[in-house]
Amino acid sequence: MALAAYVAPIVDSTSVFKPEIFKGKVLFCTGGGSGICRGMTEAVMRHGASAVIVGRNLDRLTKAAKELSEATGQKCIPAQADVREPKTLQNAVQKTIEYFGRIDFVICGAAGNFLAPISGLSENAFRTVVGIDTLGTFNTIKATIAHVRASKGSYIHVSATLHYNGTPFQAHVSAAKAGVDALSAVLAVEEGPHGIRSNVIAPGPIADTEGIDRLSVKDGQRARDFAFPSGRLGNIKDIANATVFLFSDAAAYITGQILPVDGGCEHLRGFQ
Ligand code: HXC
Repeated sequence: MALAAYVAPIVDSTSVFKPEIFKGKVLFCTGGGSGICRGMTEAVMRHGASAVIVGRNLDRLTKAAKELSEATGQKCIPAQADVREPKTLQNAVQKTIEYFGRIDFVICGAAGNFLAPISGLSENAFRTVVGIDTLGTFNTIKATIAHVRASKGSYIHVSATLHYNGTPFQAHVSAAKAGVDALSAVLAVEEGPHGIRSNVIAPGPIADTEGIDRLSVKDGQRARDFAFPSGRLGNIKDIANATVFLFSDAAAYITGQILPVDGGCEHLRGFQ
């Protein structure tokens, strides 16, 4: 089936939202050293926030933090932690508070993925991905919540759309992301009375990310791996724009929601 010739434009949030809506705010982002979460961090910083990016590889984080600071004119510092290890996350939070004094926004974005059939997946492989994605989200919430209560802040969890249906070779990630969606919903209803919002962004196929690299067969085949109602693959900026919206006051009454940012791909499943 031929898809429409329309190609959705890639819009920069700085041309839509005011530049200083996040002035004085502090973002704590797991997985912020690369890919989608780095793009989300950059967008929030471009609107005035400072940031702490959290991950396992300190060299990569340090380089990314320097580049983000230079690109945005805001402060970004690295904090080494493995989201599966609560103590390391607590240390990253302590570093954040010592340096910036507060946490307003949290992105739970650290994730792991690879293609493997359920019959060939070891228990440890399954446990590893659920450990990073689901337990890692839980640990991040636990480590940050007191500070997010104090600021009446907001969480965004990075999930996926692949668990809405049966996606082959993604049993581990599907189970993990379903858990992430559930954690966000519970957080929204439990912590709403404390002024906290919690939402999920569910990216579809996003170009130039480790996720798409791991899940695509060959570069030349990418365009045929998915159907594109919007005429193109997603872009990191598409996820970044949704992030700015959900953290902004424009989304003040939006909590407990899952926002797929997938160009409508999920709705085309029946045609593939
Ligand atoms: C089968 C595999 C495997 C593979 C690892 N394992 N890779 N099994 N196929 N390709 C198994 C190992 O054999 C081992 O099980 C277990 O998983 C743990 O592997 P380790 O390498 O020891 O774990 P670790 O060093 O913690 O690495 C975690 C990881 C790794 C997830 C396996 O790939 C990683 O660190 N990834 C982070 C970056 C990443 O994945 N980014 C993409 C996220 S994209 P055994 O039984 O041998 O001990 C994303 C988006 C999803 O999440 C949505 C896309 C549309």
